[in-house]
Amino acid sequence: MLLFNFISFYFIILLSYTTMSVNKVAVVTGANKGLGFCIVKKLCEKYSGKVYLTSRDEQRGGKACDELNKLGLNPFFHQLDVSDKKSVNNFVKHIREENEEVEILINNAGILFLKDAPEPKSFQAEQTIFVNFTALVDFTEAILPFMKNGGRIVNISSSSGHLCRVPSGDIRSKFQSEMLTLEELKTLVSSYVEDVKQDEEINKGWGDSPYVVSKVAVNAYTFMLQRRLAPKGITVNCVHPGYVMSDMTRGGGSITPDDAANVPVRLALTPWGAGLYVWHNGTVVPWDGPDPRGYIDGRKV
Ligand SMILES: NC(=O)c1ccc[n+]([C@@H]2O[C@H](COP(=O)([O-])OP(=O)(O)OC[C@H]3O[C@@H](n4cnc5c(N)ncnc54)[C@H](OP(=O)(O)O)[C@@H]3O)[C@@H](O)[C@H]2O)c1
Repeated sequence: MLLFNFISFYFIILLSYTTMSVNKVAVVTGANKGLGFCIVKKLCEKYSGKVYLTSRDEQRGGKACDELNKLGLNPFFHQLDVSDKKSVNNFVKHIREENEEVEILINNAGILFLKDAPEPKSFQAEQTIFVNFTALVDFTEAILPFMKNGGRIVNISSSSGHLCRVPSGDIRSKFQSEMLTLEELKTLVSSYVEDVKQDEEINKGWGDSPYVVSKVAVNAYTFMLQRRLAPKGITVNCVHPGYVMSDMTRGGGSITPDDAANVPVRLALTPWGAGLYVWHNGTVVPWDGPDPRGYIDGRKV
């Protein structure tokens, strides 16, 4: 009898634990405008869970939510500056307190200094690496404990993230190595920033674009993370969304943010594959293959 009571007590505890409602959510970074905004819009239309529109600026984020509300869509807003530890901690605390599981994470926030930017090259390199790579990695690592098994992570990369964009074969093989650890990847990327400070990045074979190095590093992290999370059934992929008509390109570009959102959303919602580098037209591009721009965008490089 005592054993029966004991077993039924633990059975009730287990049952109440498993039936405690854990809400599944999707999180999109940098979603107050451009591609991120359109990704949130499509997720609100197609995803059954709660969708977080996050933005580093409360006002811009609130305005973006109002716009979607007018379309009958209901994203949830939360402030999130991926490059600010306090902001990341606040967001993670909120997810924990709401008892939520992240089923979809779309790392979209990013910056680009255009060719005519007046800031010194070393500043551009530091900022670009910090926001596009370091902050993306640190935010993802902070969210991982709340990631649902079987969930999906989509990193918004670029054609600039293709390995062929780094001139040095030696650096390319470092990025590409399956033995590379996250700490080593961070060190490799920091060494790039140091080389820029010494005005040595061209000599050392990094090329002349901090944006390229940041996105190549994002791709390297994507494939590394995919290998790490495969046992949990979490898929990690990266996307080149096309040359998007957004503030980043001063409205130039050849694809609307709405169209560019299709592939990231499809990767987030449907089983497609894992450890893939997918371009805006749905082509899976080998990261270490030949320069794909010639045959995908129909122009020679
Ligand atoms: N546009 C293109 O042709 C193109 C091509 C390839 C890849 N991409 C990539 O696509 C993604 C979206 O770009 P987009 O074209 O939509 O550019 P965008 O219109 O400039 O939007 C970038 C978004 O990122 C946010 N952001 C920047 N720094 C942030 C931070 N520290 N924390 C949180 N959010 C931050 C911006 O917020 P604020 O409004 O507060 O600045 C904005 O919401 C980027 O990762 C970009 O590299 C773009």
